[in-house]
Amino acid sequence: MSLRTQLVAMIALVLLATLWLGALLVHWHAVDKVSTEMSAALSVGGRIARNAVGVADVPIADPRRTLGLVVTHFDGDRHLKAHLVEPSGRIVQSSRPAADLTPAPRWIERWLEEPPRRIDVALPDVFDAHGKLMLETYDRNEIAEVWDDLMLYAKLLAVYSASGLGVTLLVLALAMRPLEALSRAIARIGAGDFSTQLEETGPRELADLARGFNTMTRRLAGAESRNMRLVDSLSRVQEEERAELARNLHDEVGPLLFSIDVDATAIRLAADEGDRDSGIAGKATSIQEATLALKRNVRGIIEQLRPASAEDIDWPRSVHDTVAFWRQRFPGVTLETRLDHVEVPADVAVALKYVVGEAIGNALKHARPRRISVDFAAVGDRLAAVVRDDGGGRTGAGPGAGGAGYGIVGMRERTERAGGRFTITDVDDPKGVEIRAEFPRTAETGDATVAETETETEETGA
Ligand SMILES: Nc1ncnc2c1ncn2[C@@H]1O[C@H](COP(=O)(O)OP(=O)(O)OP(=O)(O)O)[C@@H](O)[C@H]1O
Ligand SMILES: [Mg+2]
Repeated sequence: MSLRTQLVAMIALVLLATLWLGALLVHWHAVDKVSTEMSAALSVGGRIARNAVGVADVPIADPRRTLGLVVTHFDGDRHLKAHLVEPSGRIVQSSRPAADLTPAPRWIERWLEEPPRRIDVALPDVFDAHGKLMLETYDRNEIAEVWDDLMLYAKLLAVYSASGLGVTLLVLALAMRPLEALSRAIARIGAGDFSTQLEETGPRELADLARGFNTMTRRLAGAESRNMRLVDSLSRVQEEERAELARNLHDEVGPLLFSIDVDATAIRLAADEGDRDSGIAGKATSIQEATLALKRNVRGIIEQLRPASAEDIDWPRSVHDTVAFWRQRFPGVTLETRLDHVEVPADVAVALKYVVGEAIGNALKHARPRRISVDFAAVGDRLAAVVRDDGGGRTGAGPGAGGAGYGIVGMRERTERAGGRFTITDVDDPKGVEIRAEFPRTAETGDATVAETETETEETGA
């Protein structure tokens, strides 16, 4: 059942109860009124009758006729009937009471009427032989009066109830409007629309409700957008992890496979030429080492797949190791390093290790350099790593030249993820390629002063 129907039913119930109570009170009051009126009428009527029959000292010529005249005197009385009663007890004459123009319905008369009350009027002795005068109450006119009053009250009550009910329904309709708006708004929230806002007007309770609702929807909208951002960043993290894995496979495993290829090719050439002394054993050992390193790297990648793993790069040792790795495989190429030993954040250390490794690897793979230099310098508020070769540049026709791979992409991604900027340029004099990774110097990057600058050059002759 709707709230409106419930309220209307309750108001109707209260009205009915009021009517019932009112009817009881009206009955009690009307019965009392009729009884009082009848008593008063009897006492007034008795006095009038006595006055009418005459004063004791005036002689009465015809007592019988006088009695008859007194009875007719009561004709038209509203509350009394007068009777002339013979000494034998027979009523020989009665007055005609007034008839009300609008008599009350019969059921009201039955509800309020009382049994007629009779009194004998005390008369002088001279009347004794001719009969007596009896007065009897007649309450129909009084009941008709009460009925008239009742009708008036009933009309007033009907007007009052109808207007009261009308005003209540109007107030209810106005009060229900915000509740209906609230119900529509809640349905919209259920459908996922958190932009819904209610007007914070109207009665205080409803305005408070609307205010609370608006706060709730704002919070829901905030929670939803936070949720969406979270999902977004989660998928970005996943993407980054995949890219990281791809880079690691490329940067860790790729060079090792390349070096195995180089060593195996050298062994095959030596075997073809029947040259047993050109370091076959050394090359085989190198292949074994590369295979071992491959195993370690694959293990590292597996560890990286585990959620808790964290990359712990030992800068600048990692760069030295990388350079040493290539130096061992390409003894004819001069590999120079000049590294400023300053502390760098972990992500910069990671980027440096792989950028240097890939830059050297690219130069050796795609060009024929005689010299490759690796510089890392802390200058002002910047840290710059530069790898430069004299292999002829990217236009030069080296082995594998022109192929589209993942190395440059990876170097750029690693640099940018560490907050840096990456460039690759073909340079002249001597012709070659210059790889540059620059990072901003933050509080984490340690002392502004350079701890140590070293230069490592090894040349075993081309
Ligand atoms: N130092 C360099 N000298 C000459 N050419 C270079 C040099 N560095 C890169 N290149 C050219 O740029 C191309 C792209 O290099 P990139 O490292 O992205 O891929 P890749 O080395 O061919 O393959 P991958 O690195 O995926 O094994 C190379 O194929 C090569 O032609
Ligand atoms: Mg490459």
